[in-house]
Amino acid sequence: MKFSFTASFPKRVECLVLGVFEGGKAGSHMTLLDKKSKGALSRVMKLKDFKGKKNSFLSFVAPEGTGADHIVLMGLGKPGSLKEKDFEEIGSGLLSRLNVDKIKHAVVSVGDTGAKKTGSAAAHMAFGALLNSYRFDKYLTKEKPEKKPTLKAIDFIARDAGEARTLFAKLEKVASGVFLTRDLVSEPPNVIYPESFAARAKSELTKLGVKVTILDRKAIEKFGMGALMAVAQGSARDPRIVIMEWNGGKKGKAPVAFVGKGVTFDTGGISLKPGPGMEDMKWDMAGAGAVTGLIKALAGRKAKVNAVGVAVLAENMPSGTATRPSDIVKTMSGQTVEILNTDAEGRLILCDAMWYVQEKHKPEIMIDLATLTGAMVIALGHEFAGVFANDNDLAKNLMTTGEHMDERVWQLPLCDAWDKVMDSPAADIKNISGGRDAGSATAASYLKRFVKDKVKWAHLDIAGVAWTNKDRPCVPKGAAGWGVRLLDRFVADHIE
Ligand code: BES
Ligand code: MN
Ligand code: ZN
Repeated sequence: MKFSFTASFPKRVECLVLGVFEGGKAGSHMTLLDKKSKGALSRVMKLKDFKGKKNSFLSFVAPEGTGADHIVLMGLGKPGSLKEKDFEEIGSGLLSRLNVDKIKHAVVSVGDTGAKKTGSAAAHMAFGALLNSYRFDKYLTKEKPEKKPTLKAIDFIARDAGEARTLFAKLEKVASGVFLTRDLVSEPPNVIYPESFAARAKSELTKLGVKVTILDRKAIEKFGMGALMAVAQGSARDPRIVIMEWNGGKKGKAPVAFVGKGVTFDTGGISLKPGPGMEDMKWDMAGAGAVTGLIKALAGRKAKVNAVGVAVLAENMPSGTATRPSDIVKTMSGQTVEILNTDAEGRLILCDAMWYVQEKHKPEIMIDLATLTGAMVIALGHEFAGVFANDNDLAKNLMTTGEHMDERVWQLPLCDAWDKVMDSPAADIKNISGGRDAGSATAASYLKRFVKDKVKWAHLDIAGVAWTNKDRPCVPKGAAGWGVRLLDRFVADHIE
């Protein structure tokens, strides 16, 4: 997909995209062409009852005198109401529309949107279109050519074309982080497993100036990560921890750490999951995928931040060497865990990775992302991720940024009572509460025991948002790449 930004219109275009506000008020370019075509455009609008509702489109063969073969009207909603995310949504919808109409090359009249900052409007429309152009089709060997998207390029005509170019150059880097996450999460578990994930992360990030360190099984054992090993030991595939350091900030400034759950397949282990739907657990590494994509985005746009990403990777399998419910293991922190359910494995691998990054990198802020609990999906469905935090400002900032970026999060509480239910009679802590009450909060309470006192910590439970079963604005069906945009912007607004 090619995007370009220029200040003036080409003479002749294949498809011209014009803006119409709710109630039918047209953008300036639209008005001009309507006149030139003797009112043909407004006649089509009337005929088709096109009202200019935000993200609605109307396309037709262009009338004489418009300099185009094809015209698409894009609905803009109420005049002056469009925020960045609205432009992204419109860009995303436009891309779908153009492909339905078999367009190859479109030209968008950004001035028609009434945006004061046409540069920003154009860049965000392009960003939305780009995000929505993602496809994971590498294993479709027999897809008919007519099913493939036709669109190759969109030109945005905007007064502030230079600004659009500068801004889009950064957004494009963010999109390439999102795409890396989507690729990692979409790949099947026979292709992406701890070792291959680590190799992929290394090859993608090293070339951007990220320092990538991989801990193999020997190193993991040496550090005493007994909880991570307990999850990994049932699998023929060894675990890995990938540490990705991007040092774009002031020398010596404490980093922000991002830790992602990377269970490359979660069968549940000996506490085996039921068969139907188990295939969904190929995306149980979406937290690790998001962290990897995020570091790619930060490095790509040369963010002025010291960030360390940690992807903790294991495969949760049942076997003769697998952990048994009732096994007791020792974590890197020294705390012992009674494992009562091998399907509550995310917290086991996270607690060792979180401890490791706090010991080695002394972060000021630590944010973990994990497809941690089915209970999260019951609580918030697919519209919000849950956030638990030991610092309310951190949680609030994530909520505000999420609203802005359309990757929404909602804070849920932690409390002593939920901490207490995690006490084990036989070890320092157990890995399940034993009941079904507040399942996401008891999981968060488990993690909290592995957070050092001075570290500001937030836990994002992304079980409901990592994958989408329907197309959404900027997110085609499948791996959402959730978290990259949110955390990239969180870094930009609150740390840089
Ligand atoms: N990966 C799952 C959580 C999950 C479930 C994510 C559905 C996305 C969709 C996690 O490892 C798990 O199995 N959690 C258990 C915890 C329970 C045993 C305390 C769960 O939620 O049932
Ligand atoms: Mn599980
Ligand atoms: Zn899991």
